[in-house]
Amino acid sequence: MTVRHFLQFKDFSRAEFEYLFARARVIKDKFKTYETHHPLFDRTLVMVFEKASTRTRLSFEAGIQQLGGSAIYLNTRDSQLGRGEPIEDSAEIISRMSDLVMIRTFEQEIIERFAAHSRVPVINGLTNEYHPCQVLADIFTFIERRGVIEGKTVAWVGDANNMCNTWLQAAESLDFSVHVSSPPGYGPNPELNAITDNPHVRLFDDPMEACRGAHLVSTDVWTSMGFEAENEARMKAFADWRVDGEMMKIAAPDAVFMHCLPAHRGEEVTPEVIDGPQSVVWDEAENRMHAQKALMEYLLLGRV
Ligand code: CP
Ligand code: NVA
Repeated sequence: MTVRHFLQFKDFSRAEFEYLFARARVIKDKFKTYETHHPLFDRTLVMVFEKASTRTRLSFEAGIQQLGGSAIYLNTRDSQLGRGEPIEDSAEIISRMSDLVMIRTFEQEIIERFAAHSRVPVINGLTNEYHPCQVLADIFTFIERRGVIEGKTVAWVGDANNMCNTWLQAAESLDFSVHVSSPPGYGPNPELNAITDNPHVRLFDDPMEACRGAHLVSTDVWTSMGFEAENEARMKAFADWRVDGEMMKIAAPDAVFMHCLPAHRGEEVTPEVIDGPQSVVWDEAENRMHAQKALMEYLLLGRV
């Protein structure tokens, strides 16, 4: 039997996403009404972290417990992963003692190699290239607030990082548009993203123009984890790519603002926007848990 993984957004079909969004709704409603839901009773999730996390750890650990299972946390600092044990060997071992693995690491290639040697499904909890669980939760949040994402426009302002790459994949899968505006040298990597002749992507020099008419405006930190050495240069380069009230005004009147968090108020976004009425950042964070519960249930049990 082939093991399914969720390593990039494009690993799942549109029909699968539609199922997951509907299932996340059911699972969230059960949580809100204190209805016990233990389809993963006795199952074990191993969470491997090579980078820091608040939301990802919390949402996966609380999520698997609420599904009746349990979680084990490993990090590079105090496991053999940090002492050079091959990733392939780690995958063999970890996947023999668990039912599901979530990994947050550096290069995408690391998680791909892990998955190739894993007996159980592997979930990407963030790599340098992608953050598919966050975009899954963000689109669920958009659907919750605005109904459908198909045909809508998402403005991405700032670094064309793991979040941006994932939005670009999601636009293809779910048929919406992404308007990207990044400082020179920080735009989408054409080796990862089909950006030329792609009806789902438009690139803008001016962030205001990227936001014009958008239904969702999103940004992220100027310096992602693993890129700290570039921080000083990035602070200068990104100064005009801060989401502010003017950008939200030029967006559609009912536009929402999203940020995967953690945020730096006054850098990539002004306090008036992230703490303002169009911001849905707390829903996004909470929805990580509901969306990932649907994902874990699906990877282990299929459609229920
Ligand atoms: N958004 C997100 O993945 O947050 P953490 O880094 O806290 O997990
Ligand atoms: N782009 C950010 C997201 C953090 C959740 C990073 O990779 O650090």
